[in-house]
Amino acid sequence: MARRVAPLVLLLLASCAGPRPPVIGPDVTPHPGEAWFAYRAASLGITEQEARARDADLPTAGPPAEGTLDLTVAREAAALWRDVCAACHGLEGKLEGAPPMEPKPKVWGTFGVRMGFLFGGDKMRAGIYRSIAEGKRAPDGQVTMPGWGAALSREQLWGLVQHIEGL
Ligand code: HEC
Repeated sequence: MARRVAPLVLLLLASCAGPRPPVIGPDVTPHPGEAWFAYRAASLGITEQEARARDADLPTAGPPAEGTLDLTVAREAAALWRDVCAACHGLEGKLEGAPPMEPKPKVWGTFGVRMGFLFGGDKMRAGIYRSIAEGKRAPDGQVTMPGWGAALSREQLWGLVQHIEGL
């Protein structure tokens, strides 16, 4: 019985991982802060002002419409993850090389996290967005992770949520 169920479980697990993060070379650099809007405007063929307005129109309570997060955003998120987040979370989200910290960040790509995405859906994604934007605090108020909402656009933040789901 177990032998017949195992491939099914594997299939289920594979199908509920998010889109695989793109493979990027070291030449791909992220665009935190103001630099993002000029870069994004060029990639979409719109003005910087339009890129800003477009970003401000993106939702924060749930992911943007299907297709909004294109390959440019996926590559940006992969570069941000590698250059900004991996120092603490590990490149694979598995804490390799992470400094000792309490509480430890979540280990991504595990069965429990995949089930969280599968059953939590957009509510889970919105929670992750909020954690990245606002940061995390221990119950005693100590900052355990700084917030990135001031340094990153909404689209970059949603890109990171998608990146994490695919780990
Ligand atoms: C200075 C180290 C550090 C950096 C850099 C960092 N994180 Fe974190 N992160 C943590 C720690 C520690 C926690 C756990 C905090 C807690 O639970 O109180 C955490 C938690 C999180 C969570 C919440 C997980 C949950 O429990 O729901 C998310 C999402 C997250 N980080 C994403 C990111 C992203 C995306 C970046 C890069 C933009 C990033 N982190 C950069 C240390 C860091």
